[in-house]
Amino acid sequence: MSKFNLPALPYATDALEPHFDKETMTIHHQRHHQAYVTNLNNAVEGSEAENKSLEEIIREVSKYSKAVRNNGGGHYNHTLFWEILSPTPQGSPTGKLAEQITATFGDIDTLKAEIKKAGLGQFGSGWAWLYVKADGTVAVTATPNQDNPLMDLESGDKGFPILGVDVWEHAYYLKYQNKRADYLDAFWSVLDWASVEKKYEEALAKI
Ligand SMILES: [Fe+2]
Repeated sequence: MSKFNLPALPYATDALEPHFDKETMTIHHQRHHQAYVTNLNNAVEGSEAENKSLEEIIREVSKYSKAVRNNGGGHYNHTLFWEILSPTPQGSPTGKLAEQITATFGDIDTLKAEIKKAGLGQFGSGWAWLYVKADGTVAVTATPNQDNPLMDLESGDKGFPILGVDVWEHAYYLKYQNKRADYLDAFWSVLDWASVEKKYEEALAKI
């Protein structure tokens, strides 16, 4: 039995239409994410990582092979991505997270602009993130490939990712072609802030 498994999408593949189209969601989940899971299982087999949880692997990813880093990141990042999307999203942050965003960025529109800038500025494949730093404050960053802020890499910002936007072409090319900016604008229509708030609370409990 495989150690890691592809999680089911918490909604139908066409549920995020017209913002995220059915064909993209199907291929993205069933082929791309599945490939990360399959390749991660192969990469950890017989290694020390075989006995670790996904989060433990990500937090100490520098100890493992490039295949574990790429495919472990791919599994972690896509799992988070599906969880923060919804066909019936809460449209804006509330509570403590809303306060933190206002304190850091001034307002939600500025945060959205910062994430769009990070996503557009990521050359080639990668992710844009909102993450929680060790002091409990939030920040925006971008990472290449399947890296994320939880990884113990020498370069890059550190913390718990609570919102991630996939800017690999496989996430948007069928519907948006080369227009990554349009995809990043559409993302807000399916982002569920209730899920991001839950991840924020979980992150605070770990720091
Ligand atoms: Fe992806």
